Amino acid sequence: MKFLSIEESNASELNLLLDAAVEMKATRGSHSSLPLTGQTWAIIFSKASTRTRVSFEVGIRELGGQLMFLSINDIQLGRGEPIKDTARVLGRMVHGAVIRTFDHQDVVDFYDYSQIPTINALTDAEHPCQILADLLTIREKFGSLENQKIAFIGDGDNNMSRSWIWAAKHLNLPLTVAAPESCLPPQSFIDRVASPNVTLTTDPIEAAKDATVINTDVWLSMGQEGQAEKEALFKNFQVNSSLLSHSNPNHIVLHCLPAYREKEITEEILELHSDSIFQQAENRLHVQKAILAHITS
Ligand code: CP
Ligand code: NVA
Repeated sequence: MKFLSIEESNASELNLLLDAAVEMKATRGSHSSLPLTGQTWAIIFSKASTRTRVSFEVGIRELGGQLMFLSINDIQLGRGEPIKDTARVLGRMVHGAVIRTFDHQDVVDFYDYSQIPTINALTDAEHPCQILADLLTIREKFGSLENQKIAFIGDGDNNMSRSWIWAAKHLNLPLTVAAPESCLPPQSFIDRVASPNVTLTTDPIEAAKDATVINTDVWLSMGQEGQAEKEALFKNFQVNSSLLSHSNPNHIVLHCLPAYREKEITEEILELHSDSIFQQAENRLHVQKAILAHITS
């Protein structure tokens, strides 16, 4: 089995994973079964990572498995060996793979050619594990996903916003995405989503208004470093106290991290909401253990 995108998932799978994550969190250190016992997993990363790498390394071990971390620079993939050949070799040796890369098609191809359990640990198109952690954090903070008004303010066409849009569709959550015009998803994507729950706007105040959950992310994703022209578009999209004055008084702020202070979020707001933001980071561990158990069952 695989967990490659929120797009390919559905409400019942997402809710099942969230319930399993709650159980994983409650029973950490005393799980009744260790589904990865006897297994060795490959973690193959072409991009930097702190949270994803550490949470998968810890999670795989806590479920009884072993792992090897393979940086793109250390394997022949980094010298141009095709993903389909890498997949066919690893598929004969390891029991599962966690992949962080650029082109989403690479994780699809890896699964197709390896036929071993495969998890998307972030591509340019989606960051599905992070969205599950975000959803779990919202459930914990408010007791339920019901009756939340969710805003995503920043780059409306990156992996985080796209995964959030699919989650809003599947779970019937009202989501408003605010981004500069050129950083909103293209019409072809919106047509594919075709969800009445998702509103797109170029006005950050419209998104923040009455919101109970304010989400943001870096303005320049990995691979876009140095794009000063793109970064300049976001000057009105900072999550700061002035913008949040329009939100529901009981709002929480989420940020998948890493955060660039005084860019997408102010130091003041990040520290004020550090409880939810670092709870969100911790929840990566619990949701990913739920995913690992689910796709190996
Ligand atoms: N949020 C997230 O995926 O963090 P890392 O890039 O540190 O893994
Ligand atoms: N959109 C960000 C997420 C980082 C976790 C990126 O791709 O760099």
